[in-house]
Amino acid sequence: MNRVGVLTGGGDCSGLNPAIRAIVRTAARANWEVLGFLRGWKGLLQNETRPIGADGIDDLIARGGTVLGTSRTNPYKEKDGATRIQRVLETNHLNALIAIGGEDTLGVAAKLFEELKIPIVGVPKTIDNDLDATDFTIGFYSAVQIVTDSIDQLKTTAESHDRVMIVEIMGRHAGWLATYGGIAGGADVILVPEFPMTLTQICEAVELCRKRGKRYAIIAVAEGAKVIAENGHEIAEQSHEAVDAFDHVSLGGIGEVLRDLIKGKTGWDTRSTALGHVQRGGSPAAFDRILGTAYGVRAMELVLKGEFGKMPAHWQGQLTAVPLKAAVGKLKTLSPALYDLAKGFFG
Ligand code: F6P
Repeated sequence: MNRVGVLTGGGDCSGLNPAIRAIVRTAARANWEVLGFLRGWKGLLQNETRPIGADGIDDLIARGGTVLGTSRTNPYKEKDGATRIQRVLETNHLNALIAIGGEDTLGVAAKLFEELKIPIVGVPKTIDNDLDATDFTIGFYSAVQIVTDSIDQLKTTAESHDRVMIVEIMGRHAGWLATYGGIAGGADVILVPEFPMTLTQICEAVELCRKRGKRYAIIAVAEGAKVIAENGHEIAEQSHEAVDAFDHVSLGGIGEVLRDLIKGKTGWDTRSTALGHVQRGGSPAAFDRILGTAYGVRAMELVLKGEFGKMPAHWQGQLTAVPLKAAVGKLKTLSPALYDLAKGFFG
């Protein structure tokens, strides 16, 4: 019997389980077996597996996180990582591998395909939505909904206390989540990595809210946002020194820094809330259940057709397939048109 391996790598998100369910159901229809690898590339390197049959997976459509577990292990940082992966796939008599992940996980998948011709198909996921060659990644819309709901909740307390409320949102290199969530939540300023703002501009927007008679102001800030202080230097806050296996520094804390600066400059009572990993939790939004299902089915179809080195993508309104190397070459940064739309509501 033909067999396909599946793994989920990188930060988890809502919508991974619907994708796993769709892969398993499509595989079962074609008489293929599915072998899950636990904790991303780590489980593959260590040959930690879990067979997943088509029975008992129905509830995965509504379940957040990933039943396979995940890690940020980079096989290219491990001794003989790539060849060990090849060996484990052979030991398990696998005909193909589906790697569900973001820029890092799919970057490894692309390299394994290019260098060792390992038959791999990818599935795009990340709440940051910064993977290129696809408009949407699994997990993004669920996170947008959480950001929107959180801003709605923070607004009522901000208004009661006449406060500026800063909401720190995930988004290391790209402001998609902060911008979508900020627009939907009616934020008065949105700060992102792609389009720097000065502290003066931010405070002017906040003051404008007060002049308009508004009793509160909401600032949505991406964790990797670029804000320029009065001395011309960038305000960047990294709460931890830790660097992961893909050389990413752990971000967080820019909201707290801005709180003191904005309070100092405007005199307006200011608080900051970091939404953190709440954004990756909970059940998937309807869109991610559908996207996860569509990507899962399409990924398995690519395997059945022997079209490796690709991933399903939602590109310019169409469900299509693109080469993995087109997705991982560079990050997909925020569209200027979308940020302009958001800017129309600043202040
Ligand atoms: O890559 C997605 C992401 O959610 C980033 O926005 C964030 O910086 C990072 O993961 C946090 O990762 P961790 O779970 O390792 O703290």
